Amino acid sequence: MNLPPNPFGNDSGNDIDIADLRKLTDLIKSKYNYDFKDYAMSSFKRRIKRLLDIYKFKNVDKLISVLETNPDFFEEFISEITVNVTEMFRDPLFWKILKEQILPNILLQHETINIWHAGCSSGEEVFSMAIVLQEMGILGKAKLVASDLDTAIIKKAQGGTYSMKSMDLNRKNYQRYGGVHSLDNYFKEMGGEAIMDKSLMQNVSFRRHDLVQGAVFSKFDLILCRNVMIYFNQTLQNTVLGRLHESLFKYGYLAIGSKESLIWCEIANKFIVVNNEEKIYKKVKE
Ligand SMILES: C[S@@+](CC[C@H](N)C(=O)[O-])C[C@H]1O[C@@H](n2cnc3c(N)ncnc32)[C@H](O)[C@@H]1O
Repeated sequence: MNLPPNPFGNDSGNDIDIADLRKLTDLIKSKYNYDFKDYAMSSFKRRIKRLLDIYKFKNVDKLISVLETNPDFFEEFISEITVNVTEMFRDPLFWKILKEQILPNILLQHETINIWHAGCSSGEEVFSMAIVLQEMGILGKAKLVASDLDTAIIKKAQGGTYSMKSMDLNRKNYQRYGGVHSLDNYFKEMGGEAIMDKSLMQNVSFRRHDLVQGAVFSKFDLILCRNVMIYFNQTLQNTVLGRLHESLFKYGYLAIGSKESLIWCEIANKFIVVNNEEKIYKKVKE
C-alpha cells in the first residue's frame, strides 16, 4: 500500500462515535454505492480506527472529506476496511471432509460440480479447492466462481503469487488435510515468491460481487462463504444467507467458517447440519 504524505494532521487519538460512523457509511453509500451500514459495528469501528492511524487522519470528518474529494483513495479504503486474512487449506479437516464426503456426494447426483467461493480474498481458498479436485481427478468436471467485494484482492487472487513465507503454514495445512503429494508440486519459487500453477485455474472465473447488494446470479452445488459473514450484523447475515440459499440447488451444500453458525438465522430450518465442527450444511427445503 502506498502511504500518502500527511497533509491531514496527525492526531488520530479521538474516539469514534456511532454518529461519525453513520455519516461515513451514508457518504460511502451515496457516492460509491457500497453499503457498510449493517457490518458488525465493533470490528468496523476497529478498522476505521486503524485506517485513521495508518493515514494519520485527525478524525472521521477528515476521512470523509478525503473520500468526498479523492475517488482514487476509495480502492485503498476498501482494502483497509475489509479483512483479507486467509490461508491455503485453512481448517485442514474441513478440506478432508470435502474430499471424502461432500464432493463425492455431489458427483453421485450431478455430472459436473458448480462451486462458488463467495468472499475469496486473495485466492488461497480457491487454489486449495482446485488442488483437492485435481487430486480427486475431477478438476475437469468442476466450474468455479470466485468473487469478492474488493477489486484489488481479486487481482491478487488472479495473479496467484504468494510470499514464500506464507507457504510454510500452507504446507503444514496441506499435510494435515492429507494431501497426496507435496504442496511444492503446485508452485514454482521465483525471487522469494511462490507462483502457483496456472493450470489449476483453468475452470475458475473471478468476478467482483457484493454479497450485500449483489443479485443472485447462478445456481451452485456447493458454496463456500467462510469467515465473511462474521463481519456482518445479524440482520445482514439473515439477508445474505437468504441469497446464498437461493443460489444453491436443492440438496446443495453451504460451508461457513468454523467459528460461525447458522443456528440463530431465520433460514436455519431450510438446512440440515452435515458437519457441526466444520459448519457444513445441506439445503433441504426451497
Ligand atoms: C477473512 S476473508 C475470508 C477469506 C476466505 N473465505 C477464508 O475463509 O479464508 C473475508 C473476505 O470477505 C470479503 N468481503 C467482505 N464484505 C464482502 C461483501 N459484502 N461481499 C463480498 N465479499 C466481501 C473481504 O473483502 C475479504 O476478502
